[in-house]
Amino acid sequence: MKVLLAGASGTLGHFLVPQLMAAGHEVTGVTRFALAAERLRKTGARAVLADVLDRSALLSAVEGLEADAVVHELTALTKAPLGYDDLEPTNRLREEGTRNLLDAARQVGAGRFLTQSMFLGYGFRDLGPEPLTEDAPFGVPTGAKTDPVLAALKSTEDQVLGAGPDIAGTALRYGLFYGGDIEVIAGMMSRRRLPVPLGSAGKLPLVHHKDAASATVAALERGAGGRVYNIVDDTPATWRELMEEISRTTRTPRPLVLPAGLIRLAAPYAAQVMTRINMRVSNERARTELDWTPHFPGYRQGLAANMATAGGHGI
Ligand SMILES: NC(=O)c1ccc[n+]([C@@H]2O[C@H](COP(=O)([O-])OP(=O)(O)OC[C@H]3O[C@@H](n4cnc5c(N)ncnc54)[C@H](OP(=O)(O)O)[C@@H]3O)[C@@H](O)[C@H]2O)c1
Repeated sequence: MKVLLAGASGTLGHFLVPQLMAAGHEVTGVTRFALAAERLRKTGARAVLADVLDRSALLSAVEGLEADAVVHELTALTKAPLGYDDLEPTNRLREEGTRNLLDAARQVGAGRFLTQSMFLGYGFRDLGPEPLTEDAPFGVPTGAKTDPVLAALKSTEDQVLGAGPDIAGTALRYGLFYGGDIEVIAGMMSRRRLPVPLGSAGKLPLVHHKDAASATVAALERGAGGRVYNIVDDTPATWRELMEEISRTTRTPRPLVLPAGLIRLAAPYAAQVMTRINMRVSNERARTELDWTPHFPGYRQGLAANMATAGGHGI
């Protein structure tokens, strides 16, 4: 397939571009920066320069291009979000960015569209011990400060799943990514910039970047239009468990442990994710319908594999 990939220059893109090409697909990445375009071209991909939020620039950039599929992997987050306002630009990419990319998909003649979504859409709270399937309520507002995040996730899914008869749209509800940005996380931890909460906290669904990429290739090839897939591994973990394992495997100082209330004062959104959410998410549908299995069943295996490769994170 000819794939137009928005987000090709990102952390997930670093894994996804080579996996797509290894599976025989032709990749054209969308990026705002000439340097990123140059890097993409060096991998054998093509690149177009555009800001996805600028609809006319995007449509001009893809003029004359033909593609079978468009994949939306955009976020404006360059570091872990601390406050609720940090999410606004990414919400915009999920709402307006999705709309513009769907217009681009129509222009390039793509009959497939994949969009990123994530587990957070199930809610920022304790969702109990049973694994959530894709049929669980998603993007339901609660009157809290997280409502715009829920609305944006719902928006990208609704736009893509309902794109119309000419575009078969699929949404991937990824777990929390880990692995591809381990050196950034370890660096923040050693500067005491990434605390973990004291006391008990809930489990979060995870997925290694490498597995998120393989699931995306599987969804492109075998996913159904109008269908949503949870893309998570088999081992949910608390934020503290994940950070402590990163510290252990990268041999960086153990994370700073602070009372949840203190983290909440400095980083209310991050604290909500670290302490209030408790959920398990089922990957059964992706296993059966996409024939996808996570290579790393849990973060311990994923992080160990990272460290086993040259330089510690060259996986
Ligand atoms: N991190 C997680 O735990 C997690 C979990 C679930 C889902 N996700 C989703 O998975 C996707 C991939 O995440 P990632 O970690 O690979 O993100 P990332 O490393 O931060 O990459 C973000 C990408 O978005 C592009 N981008 C941002 N704004 C843009 C704009 N206005 N126009 C064009 N391109 C723009 C960047 O391209 P340039 O800077 O080169 O223009 C870059 O390629 C995102 O949609 C994210 O929300 C992440």
